[in-house]
Formats: sequence, C-alpha cells, structure tokens
Amino acid sequence: KTFFTPISGGSTPSPTKRPTKITVVGVGNVGMAIAQTILTQDLADEITLVDAIENKLRGEVLDLQHAAAFLPRTKIHASVDYADTADSDLCIVTAGARQNPGESRLNLLQRNVALFRHIVPPLAKYSPESIILVVSNPVDVLTYVAWKLSGFPANRVIGSGTNLDSSRFRFLIADHLDVNAQDVQAYIVGEHGDSSVALWSSISVGGVPILSFLKRQQIPYEKETLESIHKEVVQSAYEVIRLKGYTSWAIGYSVASLARSLLRDQRRIHPVSVLAKGLYEIDGGDVFLSLPAQIGLGGVLGVANVHLNDEEAQKLRDSANTILEVQSQLGL
Ligand code: NAI
Ligand code: 2OP
Repeated sequence: KTFFTPISGGSTPSPTKRPTKITVVGVGNVGMAIAQTILTQDLADEITLVDAIENKLRGEVLDLQHAAAFLPRTKIHASVDYADTADSDLCIVTAGARQNPGESRLNLLQRNVALFRHIVPPLAKYSPESIILVVSNPVDVLTYVAWKLSGFPANRVIGSGTNLDSSRFRFLIADHLDVNAQDVQAYIVGEHGDSSVALWSSISVGGVPILSFLKRQQIPYEKETLESIHKEVVQSAYEVIRLKGYTSWAIGYSVASLARSLLRDQRRIHPVSVLAKGLYEIDGGDVFLSLPAQIGLGGVLGVANVHLNDEEAQKLRDSANTILEVQSQLGL
C-alpha cells in the first residue's frame, strides 16, 4: 500500500461507487466455468467462491489468482464461511449433485434440496439485497426452493433456465441455415430439460420470420425436421454428459451473459426461470419456469408477451404441470 508516493497536496480519491461483488457457490465444473467466464469478461470487482471441500476450493482459487497478469483486475476470495459472501450483488448457486449418464435432471431433486437448506438461508442472511441465480439441477424446482428458503421477492430469484437450451437451439438453427447464431432469435421456454418447449412460431433470422425465410430460400422443411431440431436440443446435455461426463463451457457463457445483463443493467430479454403463476395462462400454482424475461439491476423487470400458437401454449402448460407435480413432493 506504500508502493506509490502520494502527490504533495493531493488526497486519495474516494471510490465513486461500491465494488460489484459476485458469489459463486460450488467450484465444480459448472461453478468454475462460470467464474472464469465472468473474470475474462470483467463483470465484477470481487468474486467470492464457496464450496464444502476446502482444499479443492483453495486450489481452484489459487489457480485462478495465478492468471491475474492476463485478466482484468478482480479480487478473488475463497471461503467456506458464508460471512465472507456478505454484500454480494449476485449469488450464483451451482453446488450439488449432477447427472450420471442417462439420468434425468429431476432425479437429482432430493439430494440437491437437502444442500439448498444449508446454502440459501446464509446467502440470504448475508446479502439480503442480492439477486440469487440458481444453476444447480433440477433448476426450475430448485429456483422455487431458493425463493421459499430465501424469503426474497420473486423478482430477485432467477433460474438460469432455458437460456442455455435456447443457445443450443440457436446454434442448431444457425448450423442448419448456415447463418450466424447471433442473428437467430429463438426461444426455448418451459422446463430446462425434457419437457421444454420450442417456440417455432416466433423464430426470426435477421428479423425475418423463419418459416417464411425457409420458404423464400426454397429450403424444404417439414414439421418432423423442426421437431428433430428440438429433440436434439433436449438430447444435447445427455450427449455431452455421455461423452465427457458433465457440461460446463456453454453454461459458463450462458450464466455470464445473465450476470452481465443483471449487473450492468442491460435490460436484455433472456429466457430464464421466473415465477410464472398467472402468466401465459399458467395457473396451477407457484411454479418457476423459463419465459422470455427482461432482466437488469432490479432482477426480473418483466416478462415479454410473446405470441404462442395453441400447440405451444398447451405444451407450456404441460411443462408447468410436470414441474408442479415434482414440486408437490417437497412439502415446502
Ligand atoms: P460437480 O460435482 O463438478 O461440482 C459440484 C460442487 O458442489 C462440488 O465442488 C461440491 O464440493 C460442491 N458442493 C456440494 N455440496 C456443497 C455444499 N453443501 N456447499 C457448497 N458446495 C457444495 O458438479 P457440476 O458439474 O459443477 O454441476 C453442478 C450442478 O450444476 C449440477 O446440479 C448440474 O446438474 C448443474 N448444471 C446445471 C446446468 C443448467 O443449465 N442449469 C448446466 C450444467 C450443470
Ligand atoms: C445442461 O443442460 C446438465 O442441465 C445441464 O447442460
């Protein structure tokens, strides 16, 4: 701190704003992919990483700190004590069991709810004004659990939801049409997982509705082709898990894009898991599932009213019922 000599007559400038702080709970494949993407994108002044395994945690943090010379300046802390997460702006929860090859996300529920009882209350206690972003699976049900356990208003509890599925969808459509995925506007909504819903009727490429785009380019397509693309999205995670054991890079970028929209108040629309009761005729109970939501510093700012055709609206309600059925076993 005494390395520089103060200029005579000068005073140390006081910081104009308090630092932006992110906590990431769980330093497994997913937590570390998120942390490293956030670091490279300069989204926080401080990152605190928390895990139950102290040696692994310290090793991961040291390894990241050793990249300091190549990264934007960010203070990185490791802690097993939630007091060190105090005053976080964003708490990202990635801790928990992951799927074995062929296992469904919903199958992880009981194991991960038990962990959330130890994780969410202290996060809420030490950062009562923060936004909680849930990534652990099954993400929609666990977002509901985090909402209940935190006592936060619903606008400050978000699940990463189908932001990832939508990216996979955009990649596959872009690949199919040989265009840039960033020019493809397309949403997967509903459950992050097996009952997700592809909104074909609202997809556009460079502002052109996709179905008429395909017609104009004289690219033959059939309903089965579209369904097979959605099927591939649903199978994506199973395939990656079969091949490498877990998924990490895409969820790292997906969550960093959410962190940017939230903390930099980008007000972008992302398909994320939000309290959907009363929206899109979903009225079976308090259920979190993905809808195209505008997010910024206040968390969820609103949900876009995308036009759904009858089939899409029915599939969305079915997806809500699938989640609600699983949720009803929780007794929360
Ligand atoms: P992993 O096994 O590599 O890491 C899990 C980490 O959680 C471990 O470091 C473990 O020590 C830690 N942990 C366990 N109990 C804890 C506790 N009580 N407090 C703090 N840390 C604790 O698993 P991976 O691959 O990182 O996956 C993590 C979760 O993310 C899984 O539930 C997985 O299904 C989910 N996931 C969700 C995605 C999404 O799109 N929502 C995408 C990919 C994974
Ligand atoms: C994923 O979709 C497994 O939920 C995880 O990559």
